[in-house]
Amino acid sequence: MLGDNERGGNDIILETAGLTKSFGPIEVLHGINLAVRAGEIHAVIGENGAGKSTLMRLLAGNLKPSGGDLRIDGEAVSFANPAEAEAKGIVLVHQEILLAPDLTVAQNIFLGRELRRGLAVNDRVMNAEAHKAVLELGADIDPETTVARLSIAKRQLVQIARVLLTPHRVVIFDEPTASLTPVETDALLKVMRAIRDRGVAVLFISHRLNEVKEIADTVTVLRDGHKVASHAAAELEPSDMARLMVGRDVSKLYPDRKHDDTGEAVLEISDFTVPGYATNASFKLRKGKSSVLRALWAPGAPSLWRAFWASGLGAAPCGSRARQCISRRRLRPCAPGSFI
Ligand SMILES: Nc1ncnc2c1ncn2[C@@H]1O[C@H](COP(=O)(O)OP(=O)(O)OP(=O)(O)O)[C@@H](O)[C@H]1O
Ligand SMILES: [Mg+2]
Repeated sequence: MLGDNERGGNDIILETAGLTKSFGPIEVLHGINLAVRAGEIHAVIGENGAGKSTLMRLLAGNLKPSGGDLRIDGEAVSFANPAEAEAKGIVLVHQEILLAPDLTVAQNIFLGRELRRGLAVNDRVMNAEAHKAVLELGADIDPETTVARLSIAKRQLVQIARVLLTPHRVVIFDEPTASLTPVETDALLKVMRAIRDRGVAVLFISHRLNEVKEIADTVTVLRDGHKVASHAAAELEPSDMARLMVGRDVSKLYPDRKHDDTGEAVLEISDFTVPGYATNASFKLRKGKSSVLRALWAPGAPSLWRAFWASGLGAAPCGSRARQCISRRRLRPCAPGSFI
């Protein structure tokens, strides 16, 4: 595998200079200068719409830049498609799930590069290799299961396994942990460290700033398509990261408002607990009001929403308990689809 060199060189593998991207008349990335080194985990953070995925797609040949340069090992390159980027060792785990739902886990992992014995596809070996690849990510997924039967988290792990079986020098993870449980996240972070320690450059997007603090060596911040900072992770606390992302002190982001508890509660959540996600959370949504969960980086906030929606879609881990009322009608805790 490319990238099997020892960690420690810290040479710049991938570099951009003045990279821009426009969609039609609108420029969404403005003159990005980025240097990604061998053997580092380089986090790219920013608010929704800051341009993180667009930048990653430019690096991986999914999009063509509108201007500026992309260099690998100091040499200018341009990619007509993702295959050309892969040939240079740049691979991308997309934010979206891009698997064929009707094919099995193994068929997806080897799609387009099937292992053969003579002319026939060698399912036995592909199944064994696919199983090994997902086990390395801490997941025991039957390689013969069709992808349509898997949870979103498991599909994401299959997608990661597929990418990691491609020879690579730069691996880009676009929000890989967004759908994962804490246990799956820990396993993936371990894998990312192991990849980094082989001298591979890891680009990592996450909104979980504590996770970024824990794993990243370097943090680059995008805001409205501009690169606003690039620092050693050791120099930044999550609160600094949030401030750089939004461009001001986040404690002043939402001015204090008088609490308004008038209006009929159309949705009431009380004592909502999903082990590993939320503990005794309670809130009410009132008719005619909009509600915002005021925490950009608070550890509980994303977990609460994930637990909430997982429960609503019937995918919450059992053991969750909640009292959910819609217009005073009490709902059964953990009832599939009870919110929709
Ligand atoms: N194909 C496209 N056509 C037009 N505009 C696009 C396209 N892709 C992205 N954009 C716009 O470019 C900007 C950056 O989007 P991008 O998806 O890169 O943000 P992001 O930082 O990855 O956000 P998120 O955290 O929500 O994933 C946004 O304003 C988005 O609407
Ligand atoms: Mg994105």
